[in-house]
Order: sequence, then structure tokens, then C-alpha cells
Amino acid sequence: MLNDQLRRVLQQMPKAELHIHIEGSLEPELIFALAERNGVKLAYGSVEELRAAYAFTDLQSFLDIYYAGASVLLQEQDFYDMTAAYLKRAEEDNVRHTEIFFDPQTHTARGVDIKVVIDGIYRACQDSPVSATLILCFLRHLSEEDAIATLEAALPYRDKFIGVGLDSSEVGNPPEKFANVFARCHALGLHLVAHAGEEGPPAYIYTALDTLKVERIDHGVRCLEDKALTERLAREKMALTVCPLSNIKLCVFDKMEQHNILELLDAGIVATVNSDDPAYFGGYMNDNFIATFEALPLGLSHAQTLARNGFSAAFLPAEKKQQYLDEVDAFFAKI
Ligand code: ADE
Ligand code: ZN
Repeated sequence: MLNDQLRRVLQQMPKAELHIHIEGSLEPELIFALAERNGVKLAYGSVEELRAAYAFTDLQSFLDIYYAGASVLLQEQDFYDMTAAYLKRAEEDNVRHTEIFFDPQTHTARGVDIKVVIDGIYRACQDSPVSATLILCFLRHLSEEDAIATLEAALPYRDKFIGVGLDSSEVGNPPEKFANVFARCHALGLHLVAHAGEEGPPAYIYTALDTLKVERIDHGVRCLEDKALTERLAREKMALTVCPLSNIKLCVFDKMEQHNILELLDAGIVATVNSDDPAYFGGYMNDNFIATFEALPLGLSHAQTLARNGFSAAFLPAEKKQQYLDEVDAFFAKI
């Protein structure tokens, strides 16, 4: 059981969130409100019916519902409202800085202009007191040509996103499928991340590192199956953006007591805690921290390490990063 002091620390400590899909923050109530506003017909009759469908067996069973939920997003204001709602929740959880993933292909495939997507999300970031930057994700179940076309369409808005990522159905869509588009993004000076080792094997983590040249691995929890890889990630201080509640909901681990985040930390890996798709997986940042600390033998020093890791792994200027790290240390010094 979590004592009151540790619970309060987890809630109040300053945090960075580095793995949040903005479309995964769409709460059922907002999905229904936007569906009504835009005249979109949903396959579910009510908020309760939709929520009842959130019983996932693996990543794909989630993605099918997640893409259906995103179908209500049509106007710039819809993207704004979704992002503003997430940032408000993040602020309540004492998130100081967040790097938000968005999936343009989910929207452009439905005829929504990429400008509408980026402008709406970006404007909400500008209006929030939380520091927020954007990472454009390519859907890996689609072709590399589609990713290249998406990058080209996004380039007029290059100043509004800091990096690119790779998400969607992992198994069967290895990182190397996107070698050319990532090389182009690297040349453009964009930050690079990719989902790897969530459901996919350690081999995908190797190719994300060696072929795509990513700077962080999203999830990466399967790295522990390969000792040399585990040692390399620790040696290279390659951060993993771990999403504990997501891993349970998508059956990567049967229950939180079996989650390997403590082993990752003990192996010297820069593991971070993140919410992934908080509206679908039962919680935002604080819920993730609390569920993890309730199930595993983690204490105050782990809380400080995890809070520090979030800022250390962020794509922030060195000076800004140091300010946040000092803020974390000052918070823990007062306990
Ligand atoms: N898109 C949204 N959430 C995802 C996840 N956990 N893995 C892969 N793609 C995603
Ligand atoms: Zn993710």
C-alpha cells in the first residue's frame, strides 16, 4: 500500500510527459459532444456504451477503437478543444512540460487538411501555461511513401513541431520500413523517436537505434529480453518512455505487479513514466505514477529519479532542462 506522504509526493512533484498521443486523450464525453457538433454518426449509442468497449486484448484491438474515436475531429476548434482539455488535466497533475504526439494521417485520410490539425493543436499549446511541444507521428501500418507525403505536407508548418515519431501497429511493421523518411527528417534537424519493443521484439529496438537513429525509444519494455541491448541502452543513456497503465490495458504485462519498470531502473536505464492514451487506459500522469508505486516496491528515491528522468530525456535547451531538474531537486529537498 502507498503511504499518504508518497502519494502526495507523486501527485505534487513537477513532471515531464514525453509519451502522450493527443488523440488518445479524447474522453468519451468529448467524443460525443464533437460528434454532435459535427453531425458525425458513431457506432456506439452512448458514453457508457463506448466506455464499455474499452476492453482491449492487444494493441490492435485498442487501435481500432482509437481511430474510430478520432473520426469526430474535423474542424480546427475540435483539435484545439481536445488539446486544451488534455493540457488542463496535465496542469492539474503538475506536468510542467509535455511533448505531444499527433497522428496527421488519421485525419488527412478523412479529408481534413493537415493545416487544420496542426493549427488547432498548436494554438491550444500556445494558450496553456504548461510548456508544450509537438511530435508528428507516422502511422507504421501505412507505407513509407504515405509517410513521405505527410512530411512534405507538414513542412510549411515546420516551426510548429520539433520532431517525428512512429506509432500504430508494431508487429510486422519494423522501424527499417521507414529508413528513408527518418533520414530525411534527420537532415531537416527534427528530433527522432519511435515506438519499439512494446509488442515487437528487441530486434525492433536495435533497428530504431541503428537504422532510424532515434533519440528516445517509446515503450521499449521488451529490451530486457536481450542483455546486450539492456546494457547498451543504459550505457548510451537512451531514455525509454514507459507507459505503465497502457502496458496493463494492452496486456503487455498481465498485472502491474509484473511490470518491469523497477528492473529497468535497476539496470541503469533512463526510464520515464507517461500516460500514452490516458482517456482509454484509465489514467493521466498521476494515475500512472500511483498505480505503479502501489504495485511495486518503489519509494521516494525512485520518485525523484523518475521525475528527473522525464526532464533529462526531454527535448529542451540545456538551460531550461537544468531549471526543471533544479525544481525537482528543490521539491524533494523540502520533504
Ligand atoms: N498509438 C496510440 N497509442 C499507441 C501505442 N500504445 N502504441 C502504438 N501506437 C499507438
Ligand atoms: Zn504510444
